[in-house]
This record gives sequence, structure tokens and C-alpha cells, in this order.
Amino acid sequence: MLHLRAAGVSLVLDARGASAPTVVHWGSDLGDLDANVLAALADAAVPAVPPSSIDVPLRLSLWPSLAEGWTGRPALAGHRQGVPAPALRLLDVQVQEQAATVRGESADGSLELTTVLELSAEGVLRVRHRLLNRGAGDFDLAGLDVRLPIPEQAAELLDFTGLWAHERQPQRTPLRHGVWSRESRHGRPGHDDAFLLMAGVPGFGFRSGQVWAVHLAFSGDKTLHAERSALGHGCLGGGELLAPGEVRLAPGETYETPWLVAVHSATGIDGLSDRLHPWIRARATLRHPRPVVLNTWEAVYFDHDLAVLTDLADAAAEAGVERFVLDDGWFTGRRDDRRALGDWQVDPSVWPDGLHPLISRVHAAGMEFGLWVEPEMISPDSQLAREHPSWVLGGGTGHTWRWQRVLDLGNPEAYACLRDRLVALLTEYPIAFLKWDHNRDLLTPGSAHRQTTALYRLLAELKAAFPDVEIESCASGGARIDLGILDLVDRFWTSDTNDPLDRQSIQRWTSVLIPPEYLGGHLGDATAHVTGRHSALGFRLATALFGSAGIEWNLTTATPAERAEIAAWIAEYKRLRPLLHSGTVVRADSPDPALRLHGVVAQDRTAALFALVSLGSPRSALPPPARFPGLDPDRRYTVRPIGTPPRTVQDAPPAWLRTGEATLPGRVLAEAGLPVPLLAPEQALLLEVTETP
Ligand code: DGJ
Repeated sequence: MLHLRAAGVSLVLDARGASAPTVVHWGSDLGDLDANVLAALADAAVPAVPPSSIDVPLRLSLWPSLAEGWTGRPALAGHRQGVPAPALRLLDVQVQEQAATVRGESADGSLELTTVLELSAEGVLRVRHRLLNRGAGDFDLAGLDVRLPIPEQAAELLDFTGLWAHERQPQRTPLRHGVWSRESRHGRPGHDDAFLLMAGVPGFGFRSGQVWAVHLAFSGDKTLHAERSALGHGCLGGGELLAPGEVRLAPGETYETPWLVAVHSATGIDGLSDRLHPWIRARATLRHPRPVVLNTWEAVYFDHDLAVLTDLADAAAEAGVERFVLDDGWFTGRRDDRRALGDWQVDPSVWPDGLHPLISRVHAAGMEFGLWVEPEMISPDSQLAREHPSWVLGGGTGHTWRWQRVLDLGNPEAYACLRDRLVALLTEYPIAFLKWDHNRDLLTPGSAHRQTTALYRLLAELKAAFPDVEIESCASGGARIDLGILDLVDRFWTSDTNDPLDRQSIQRWTSVLIPPEYLGGHLGDATAHVTGRHSALGFRLATALFGSAGIEWNLTTATPAERAEIAAWIAEYKRLRPLLHSGTVVRADSPDPALRLHGVVAQDRTAALFALVSLGSPRSALPPPARFPGLDPDRRYTVRPIGTPPRTVQDAPPAWLRTGEATLPGRVLAEAGLPVPLLAPEQALLLEVTETP
């Protein structure tokens, strides 16, 4: 018997005997149990034998298979010359602190499966399998998934779908008998990525209800699924989606699954973030403070001109920007999105002296320089494609997408050429940041595994050679945000929309998994370029504040008053970012879908920043009070408005706002709350909370 315990989470594994091990419990901490109690727990968990079933109790194992009597999805699928993968039996178990390594083999010894389970200090469980072909011939792997049991209370699912500029749209559904499988065959997670599959007690919210959740740390084709059998067993799982023939193991070869990251919370969705964010922060080596970015895309698009960009850089520096990023359009022949991907040399017709004059100006103004690239792509109309047609993935057949095709990174020559070109760029120019884009699905059967693993290799090589260069994962906005690529990048471009109304939801949900300091959020034009919707500056600023903030706007067209307001906002962001980028993310459950309260509370709970947001008109003239989650109930806090005052529809504000602040215990702020001003639609009120002795 094994018992992994950390931060209020228990995982109990029954690995007695020779059959595949069983996860007896994954959820709330069961306390300090000795070996006898653990054995009694496992014995007591053995279910009855129902009629019309196998003649022994069916337990869902770590490696469920038909041979065990499990008629749901198997963990391992594949064959050796038409003979299906045999069942596995347990070989041995090794335990090291909060990690277990479980080894099994097929009865004929031809396959060895090793499962690693690690429970982090934050209570995040991650599990992966490694399959070794010990047989004589090739083994064709069809799938290898990680499964974890969920109890019967986990009867409602929440995951995500989405579109370009509409990522992370939540969807709820009851978990009925059968399989709910979310599958990505984009060769990238995609805008409709399931992202984080949660199963909880019906109606679970941000602050309440038990929830179990899984994410697959991988950027290629993948599935996340939930299953409940008619017998009653339930599980969450996931794995890479493999096309027939995509992974064929020669004798002695191994295949390792991506990590399935699994989190339990007894206190709703925020409880998941409470484990995931500290875990990610502890593992990753993100440099702080996160610089304020100006990205040129919506400012100039492909219209690159040194004089215009120099003015923009000056305006950016004056506002307090710290990193200037030159987006698409700088390389040879790239005057629009129909050509030139692959020709990663600076276009001499636009940049006769290279990028040096711009970079020098950016540096002189005290900013870092960043550059956009889309390395995995190739335009049919490019020098590269004309010289090396065989480097195009899928042989250049099938549909183009944004007029482009994919460079076959599995081809060693194509890979080396691309790597050398990127190395040359990073060597010639002092580039601090690459915005690494990926604007199409692969659409080539059987290519995603090879392409994704080659991408990881390339990113790792570049990181090793240029450890100071930061990389942003962008894929037409947020189509490649996952914990696989997070090990190799420093920022995500959350979405191509800078419309604050859409961004409120996209950022809210993306940050359930990813800490906000990774999520690029930019101040856009008053009329959003993607939606055409007009938004007040204050709402745009308050929305972009809660992430890795930046600007995506031609500041030279802003009025002096707007520029002054933006400069003041950047100064506030710089003051607040230590809190915003290390604190606990909290989201209140709201009875009115038009109103939201979210915030970040310092780890020591001495300070917090909240945003009260109106997405539309409220349901009632006097909306419910703002109840502030996450504060210390026993300390006193003062709540004060900061930032651009929002537009309101009221004859007089609540009394406490007339005096400018309220000081109350955290318990009162959480339970009774404070009456809110009557915000007009699409407004945000920022409230700074500080401990007051
Ligand atoms: C898609 C990205 O998401 C945008 O931000 C921009 O970089 C364009 N590509 C450039 O082509």
C-alpha cells in the first residue's frame, strides 16, 4: 500500500499482489494512516459483484484493460503484427518521498510499462507512463492514456471550447454513462482546446464544491476525457492522440506519455488555481519583474517604416514601456500574410541598414527589443519553399491556411536550417524576446507527434544557447497554451482580441490554470480591431492590468490626455506587479452574470487588488454587495478605489465611497461585503485593499 500526502491531498495506491495497481483514493487528505489502516481502506473499497458481470469485484486499475473485465476505454492500445497488446501485471514499486514508480510487464514479457506518480508539495499530482518494447518485433502503439478515478459526487463536467479571438469559452455538462472525450487534432492544442477538464459536485463554483481536474502537458494532438461506466466507476484521463502508425516502437525503444497534471480542490475552482499557480511558480524560472510590452501588430500591421516605428518607440518609452516588440512584416518579401514565411532574413528593401537603427533607438530609450517569428511555417511563395519543396510537411498537398504551409521539423535538414537561421538572427541582433507564432493547424495525418517533439527540441536548443532570450508562445492568439510548452517559454499571447469585454472572460478562465504573469494582456485601440466594439480607456486599462501587461496600439495617435493616463497606469502597474505576479488569484461567485469581482491577494494577505467589473447592465438597480474572497478573516483592511474612475449610472454612490474608503475586518468584507457603485455596462472599478492595524 502506498500513501502520498501533501497540502491536503491524499493519493492511496493499492499495489499488493500481482495485478495492476489500483488508485483507491485521490482527493481530500485522509490523515496519517498506518499500513494496517491503509490495507483496511483498500479492502473495504472492494465493491460488490453485480449480476451479469465478471465473477470477481471489478476495480478500476491504473492500467485498465479488457483482461481485467474493464469494458471502457483501455489505458494501453496497440498491437504487434495484428496481435493486440497483452494485459499487464505488476512487477515492482519504488517510493521516493512523494513519488512512486510502478513497473509492470505483459505476461509474455514483451512489453514493460512504468508509471510515475508524483505529488508535489502544493498538492499537484502528475502521472505519466513509459512503455518499453522488450519483444522481438515492432510494437504499433495506438494509445497510452493515464486514468485517475473520480467518485460518484463528481457528476458535472466543466471544460472549454473556443474560436479564434474567443478562446477558453467554458461549457458545462452532466457526466452521464459513457465517455466525454475532448480531442484535438490540430497539431496544436487549438482555440477550442479542452484545456482543463474539471469534474465536480453539481453546481461547483469558484469558491465552493469539490472538484477534480486534469490537464495534459502537451502541445500536439491529445485527448482529455471523463468516463462513467454503467457499473458506476468513474475516471478522468488523457493522453496523446496517436494516428495509426505514428508511434511504432522497434525492439528496445520506449515511448513516454506527456504528464497528466491532476488537481483536486475541496473549495471550488479557485482551489485548483491555489495549487497550480504556486506549483508552476516553484518549478519555472520566470524572471521578474515582467516588463511592460509594446507590440507593433495592431499599431502598424505589415506597414514597417523606420521613421514611424521610431516615433512609436519614443512614445512607448515616454509612457514607461520596457520592451518594444516588432511584429510580423520585417523579413524579406513579407508585405502581407500571403508570402515569405521561411525567409528569415531582414528585408533590405524595408530595412536597408537592417534592424540596427531601430534596435539602437529602442535601447537608447531604455527598452529591450523583441521580434516576431513563426518558425514552424513556410509560405509556398518563399525562397525556402522554392529551394526545398521536400521540406514542406505533407509534400505541399492539402489546403493552405492563411496562405501558408508547415515546415517539416522532423526532416533533419529542414530542422538544422531553421535552427541555424534563428541562431544567426539572435547572434546578429541583441534580441531579448521572441514572439513565437504558429498560425495554422497541421492537417497532415500522423505528423503531430514528430512535429511537436521536434519543436520542443528546437526551443530547448535555443534556450540552452541563448538563456537570456525570453520566448512567447503565440498561436493565432491562445491556440497553444499548455503546461508542456510552458517549460520552454516565458509568456503566452492569450488571445488576438484586445477587446476588453471578451478579454475579461478569456483571461479569467485561462488564469484558472496559468498564473497571470504569463498571460499577455494588451491595451488596444478604443475601437477594438477584431470586434469593432468601442470601449472606454478605463475599462481597457483595468482589464490589461491583470496579466503580463502591454500595449497594442499606435500610441502616436493617442491624445496627450490619453497618453498621460496610460503613463499613470503603467506607473501603477509597476507599483502593483509584485503583488499581481505572486499573489493568490481569487474570483467571487456572482449571482448576476453581468457583474464580476476578481482579484489577487498577497501571499501574506497584507494587501490585495480587486476589480469590480460590469459586463452589461445589472439585473437589479442595486446589485448585491461585493464580498471580497481570500482575505484574512481576523485582520482589518482598508478598501480604496484607485485608477480611472468608471462611468456610473447612479444619483449618488454608496456612502463608503463618498468618504473614499472603508475599514473593516476581512471576515466582514467576505461575508457582508460592501455595497457597490452602479457601474454602467463595460466598466471596471479597481479597489486596492491594504491591511490596517
Ligand atoms: C497572429 C498573432 O496572434 C498576432 O498577434 C500577430 O502576431 C499576427 N499573427 C502576425 O501575423
